[in-house]
Amino acid sequence: MDNFQFCSPTEFVFGKGSENRCGEFVKKYGGHKVLVHYGSGSAVRSGLIDRVTASLKAENIDYCLLGGVRPNPRDTKVYEGIELCRRENIDMLLCVGGGSVIDSAKAIALGVPYSGDFWDFYETGKAPEKVLPIGVVLTIAAAGSEGSGDTVITKENGMLKRGYGSDMLRSKFSIMDPELTETLPAYQTACGAADIMAHVFERYFTNTEEVEITDRLCEAVLLTMVKETPRVIADPHCYEARANIMWAGTVAHNNVIGVGRSQDWNSHGLEHELSGLYDCAHGAGLAVIMPAWMEYVRGHNVMRFAQAAVRVWGCQMDFQDPDRTALEGIYKFRKFLHEIGMPINFAELGAKEEDIPVLVEKLGVGSGKRPGFMELSAEDVANIYKIAARASL
Ligand code: NZQ
Ligand code: ZN
Repeated sequence: MDNFQFCSPTEFVFGKGSENRCGEFVKKYGGHKVLVHYGSGSAVRSGLIDRVTASLKAENIDYCLLGGVRPNPRDTKVYEGIELCRRENIDMLLCVGGGSVIDSAKAIALGVPYSGDFWDFYETGKAPEKVLPIGVVLTIAAAGSEGSGDTVITKENGMLKRGYGSDMLRSKFSIMDPELTETLPAYQTACGAADIMAHVFERYFTNTEEVEITDRLCEAVLLTMVKETPRVIADPHCYEARANIMWAGTVAHNNVIGVGRSQDWNSHGLEHELSGLYDCAHGAGLAVIMPAWMEYVRGHNVMRFAQAAVRVWGCQMDFQDPDRTALEGIYKFRKFLHEIGMPINFAELGAKEEDIPVLVEKLGVGSGKRPGFMELSAEDVANIYKIAARASL
């Protein structure tokens, strides 16, 4: 196992009705005037925003509202938020939503105390000196942003989707009521499941030897998703399955299952170009890319893919031909994604094979290689996109 340092300072408040306590936690973490940041309307329609603001009022906390964050959140909304926070002397951000809202809030949190353009952080990876604190009321199990230090924003000019990470951006508290996810359309639930599983696989496919504890933790999260996702697709009101998935989404990405091992993240890199170009859901893009990446790189360590096939997908190990086992596991993953309603190729996603050169160009590999489980040249990337474009069961 590699040396590691792990800081996960977020206080998680989990369970039915926990959103009614958000005022209490804003106060606990020093917020006096809060920006309540939310999405395109689901939190208003469900009455959640009213409950959140009632909880703030009960603690005598001032607030401003800023909704309208769209999936694949844009820099334009971030600039609007930075200006509003400065004008209103906001000292904490309260995100009510999913990864898009939380990531937008993290970008605002970076931008408010910074004298330059917030995009500098995404472009250069520089460390912030100061950020505004954030708190979360989570409404979808997916991106894991409620427990991660990451944020992903799309710059409208050129539709450049870029990520940034800092432990300073981890939420002070994250309120997680699985009941809030019952209003999700089945497609969004499935996109979330695909993303959660991808976060685990990006960590599972490692070049670090002898990482039994994190291997087993990864497998536990994957097995949970395989069991619980079809249950919530069949019955959106199945609280227990919703609860298991919600916590799986957090541990999949706060890095407790990824410490001490090298990780990959090339499927995410390739996917961000798809959701940047086509504005598709991140999880749907991953459902198309990740099995294709697996097929392409499996020869780099076929036994690791065979291990996943046996332990996660219940395949029989073929000791004469482990590649057959590896391929069977990848087939079962793609079939699972298809069965929960995810696209499995470019046509189903709304992407075009003829755009592959544009996707490769935007990814910016140039003549170098992208690091990861297997290093990828521009040609490798194009080959993975091609497999994804044409995939079938
Ligand atoms: O905007 P509203 O109206 O709220 O609708 C949202 C949105 O359309 C809807 N929704 C959310 N909760 C709902 C609900 N609808 C009904 N009932 C509810 N309870 O779901 C749609 C998707 O929401 P979004 O926040 O976009 O989903 P997700 O959490 O998957 O976030 C995706 C974004 O996170 C980034 C992705 O790239 C993408 O931009 N990621 C962020 C990461 C991070 N910060 O750590 C890591 C991930 O790998 C990912 O890249
Ligand atoms: Zn993701």
